[in-house]
Amino acid sequence: MTATIISGKEVATAIRAELKAEVAELKEKHGIQPGLATVLVGEDPASVSYVTAKGRGCEEIGLASFQHTLPADISQEDLLKLVDKLNNDPKVDGILVQLPLPKHIDDNKILYAINPDKDVDGFHPVNVGRLVIGESIFPPCTPAGIQELIVRAGTPTKGAELVVVGRSNIVGKPIAVMMLQKAPNANSTVTVCHTGSRDMTLHTLRADILVVAAGVPKAVTADMVKPGATVIDVGVNRIGTTASGKAKLAGDVDFEAVKEKASAITPVPGGVGPMTITMLMKNTVMAAKAAGGLIKI
Ligand code: GUN
Repeated sequence: MTATIISGKEVATAIRAELKAEVAELKEKHGIQPGLATVLVGEDPASVSYVTAKGRGCEEIGLASFQHTLPADISQEDLLKLVDKLNNDPKVDGILVQLPLPKHIDDNKILYAINPDKDVDGFHPVNVGRLVIGESIFPPCTPAGIQELIVRAGTPTKGAELVVVGRSNIVGKPIAVMMLQKAPNANSTVTVCHTGSRDMTLHTLRADILVVAAGVPKAVTADMVKPGATVIDVGVNRIGTTASGKAKLAGDVDFEAVKEKASAITPVPGGVGPMTITMLMKNTVMAAKAAGGLIKI
């Protein structure tokens, strides 16, 4: 059996079209123009390309995009001042500070300074808490994209064995929390594997849904996958450069071998990646609606 390839690109395009219509309606009926501020510190190539794609994506669907690019040696104090300014700017509904930040800056100090009502990344402890109790309006973007792909692939989640490989704050922990909620599109039996796991294959082989966010190429090989599983590969590993000089990407899953065993699988690139940015746009629209009093946080 060869797996169905879950195209994040196609799903993202469909959701972006829905969002574009919603943004147009918000403007027309309510005079609301949602706006996202992105903050990039330094010139890390991966971060530059993510932030550029986020800005471009926003403009595509009619959101205002305010991009702040700062030198790598900016002080923590000055960065906090910018966050404060954005917190108080009525044109800015969502604030995204691209991670990782340079070593001399404490990531958490910055993330905690963002107004939780503008925290479209869902990284502020208030929003992490809301996520845990099932009351989140800003689910973190990559996990939200993963959940959407699982559902749109037609994979039942209720009662499914869902195994996550990786326990990062950005992906592993939040997707585990989201999928165990007693809610539609969740309600799974969740297991989280990590570098301290004694026998990872024991767990992955039971997975109806396998979410891999390990940050290691080929962390999951075909012998670790149950036949018929749905496999979501969150890895973005730069494994060289193409002939045209672009970064060559690979996921965390041995795609060629695993696609012969799984029933559905996401590719890298073109899988989870486009969904992350789309979910960021969705969160920004939600933030604008909340700021305009159309919904309650
Ligand atoms: N760095 C890698 N992924 C993310 C993300 O989703 N949000 C932010 N702010 N930084 C990131």
